[in-house]
Amino acid sequence: MFVQITGTGSYLPERVVTNDELAATLDTSDEWIYSHTGIRSRHIGADDESTSSMAVKAARAALASAGVAPEDLGLIIVATSTPDYQLFPSTACLVQHALGAVNAACFDMQAACTGFIYALETARGFLHHTPRPTLVVGAEMMSRIVDWSDRNTCILFGDAAGAAVLEVSQDETGGIWHSILKADGAGSQLIFREGGARGLPGGMPLIQHTLQMKGRAVFNFAVKVFDDVLCRLLERSGYTFDDLACVVPHQANARIVEAVARRMGVPLEKFYLNMETTGNSSAASIPVALDAAVAAKKIKEGDLIAMVGFGAGLTYGGILMNWHGRTEKSAPAVHPSRDLSAETNANTE
Ligand code: UT7
Repeated sequence: MFVQITGTGSYLPERVVTNDELAATLDTSDEWIYSHTGIRSRHIGADDESTSSMAVKAARAALASAGVAPEDLGLIIVATSTPDYQLFPSTACLVQHALGAVNAACFDMQAACTGFIYALETARGFLHHTPRPTLVVGAEMMSRIVDWSDRNTCILFGDAAGAAVLEVSQDETGGIWHSILKADGAGSQLIFREGGARGLPGGMPLIQHTLQMKGRAVFNFAVKVFDDVLCRLLERSGYTFDDLACVVPHQANARIVEAVARRMGVPLEKFYLNMETTGNSSAASIPVALDAAVAAKKIKEGDLIAMVGFGAGLTYGGILMNWHGRTEKSAPAVHPSRDLSAETNANTE
């Protein structure tokens, strides 16, 4: 049994903030930002928007493209580091209510920029046991947690939401083939946001803090793990990079992706990049890019594709899937007749 993505959707707030606008109040320039990141502009949510309101818009689009009614959903996972509330109710519960998805279980996934990958794999596990349509959303209001006076970080981020509907595939070979989920907590201080319960005296209110990042160290980590995850996903499937139609990476920095392409000796053109106009929208970045790649026909029926994420935690991981029926060259590790729990273990790391 395979799990397929049957619909995608995304939402970007109307307001666009260019590098030049940032340079009006920060010691930076469009030239510096673009040459170091590949970003020219980002979308920033309006005052009356929230992570859940963006998530609902992306979710509605994904449900429409999958032809799934909200009440048919068995599970909603919202991957986010910027939930509407700190920390409950979950943003997924807010999305469920707004959609009228009354039969869905709900929770949020916190794996920072790798959140969508973690949530997809969690949903895949759920679907093996409960074969009901599942909604996975990545949604972020990064503009609410960045320090707008810190040129090292604020220039990178944007607000967005992207969503995917997952269902048990009707095609025996189509869907998610392999996944890798990894974390290295030793790097927890490379990107963090304080304001949680850690170190607070009892009864004190939780305090809002801004995102802190050691950019260069994260850059080096990202290049290394991206290359590693992609190579291992391909090794397991028996396919090579040439067989891939498209790689949808976390849209953190175009220079990271260029460095990966150089290390692997593969063409940059196969990596779908849209950070030029979205910036880094953390857990939303992969599903927003996926939706855009499908709309642009960079991903079509029968295509072998990969998604790779990395971020705070440090977390990282990837998914290799075919967009519809295609047979694996090597003996497939997953077969419908096999024990389902063994299948999940065989294909996840
Ligand atoms: O999604 C979560 C994962 N996060 C990431 O993947 C981010 C990964 N890291 C990066 O994308 C890059 O490291 C950055 C874009 C954040 C920074 O680029 P960099 O080439 O690594 O620059 P740097 O941090 O090594 O800084 C070099 C110089 C510094 O000045 P000095 O100390 O050499 O005088 C910075 O202060 O560039 C300066 N700088 C800036 N200058 C103009 C940093 N940000 C800016 C800026 N405008 N916005």
